[in-house]
Amino acid sequence: MTTTLVIGAHGTVGAELARLLAAQGQTVRRATSRTPTAADEVPLNLLTGVGLAAALDGADQAFLLAPPGHVNQHELLNPVVDQARACGVQKVVLMSAMGANADPAAPLRQAELHLEASGLAWNVVRPNWFMQNFHTYWLHGIVHQGLIQLPVGDAQGSFIDTRDIAASAAALLSGDGFVNRDFDLTGAEALDHRAVAALLSQATGRAIGYQDIPPEAMRAGLLGAGLPAPYVEFMLVILGFFKAGYAARITDAVATLTGRAPRSFAAYAQEHRAAWLV
Ligand SMILES: NC(=O)c1ccc[n+]([C@@H]2O[C@H](COP(=O)([O-])OP(=O)(O)OC[C@H]3O[C@@H](n4cnc5c(N)ncnc54)[C@H](OP(=O)(O)O)[C@@H]3O)[C@@H](O)[C@H]2O)c1
Repeated sequence: MTTTLVIGAHGTVGAELARLLAAQGQTVRRATSRTPTAADEVPLNLLTGVGLAAALDGADQAFLLAPPGHVNQHELLNPVVDQARACGVQKVVLMSAMGANADPAAPLRQAELHLEASGLAWNVVRPNWFMQNFHTYWLHGIVHQGLIQLPVGDAQGSFIDTRDIAASAAALLSGDGFVNRDFDLTGAEALDHRAVAALLSQATGRAIGYQDIPPEAMRAGLLGAGLPAPYVEFMLVILGFFKAGYAARITDAVATLTGRAPRSFAAYAQEHRAAWLV
């Protein structure tokens, strides 16, 4: 039986991935930086490395991501790749982010290159911006002001449902068909935030709009929400990439990996409508 370590297993992508792999009959080790409370959880703190060797020992494969809030992601990710090789793990699937490979110096790109050079069987998935951000990161403004406020102008994004990311990663962790390949994962349509707001309005029956805000206002909002200053600057940089149009590209990678079309934004909005009605 295949044993897979899932890092980020309590998160948006990892929880669904762990569920899918377990449903296939794999033995799943769900990593957590908190005190484990379930038999299939293993302690692992990427910031300190505590638990890393034990989490990987005897595992056949691993899914790897960097938790949000950190800007030097390669410092968290590269030791996992090194330890995976030392433990005889056969395959590592790394979740990066769409656009990370545009700059060889970008920390996520450095992690990708480290994995690709490791000698392990590897895959890199680079998802575009998550649909789920609208009921997590951007939820407060939508609920309390009826507004999505972002510094991205009229640029479009091919938002992806995180369940399609998980399904794509599960496909890569279920066979050897796509060994040593990378995939940019997107939804099937590119929407600007006015169109997103219209779909949220349609799903909820309440008026939700979009306001293009200056980066300075975004900075103040993110700092006010308690995000670390370096991460706030990182967010502003990648929101700038969105505004410049780099998030609009559509790929067929989800269909290639899962055999079905990505979920639509309208379906996501309908399924999560209760989140914006509280
Ligand atoms: N949001 C987007 O639009 C977007 C787009 C592209 C790529 N991404 C990438 O997605 C990643 C985040 O994925 P996600 O949204 O699924 O994450 P998430 O929902 O924020 O979950 C983070 C996970 O990391 C774990 N974690 C936190 N601190 C940890 C630590 N010190 N050591 C080990 N594990 C730790 C958490 O579990 P415990 O609390 O149990 O430890 C949790 O499972 C980031 O790398 C980001 O770059 C995001």
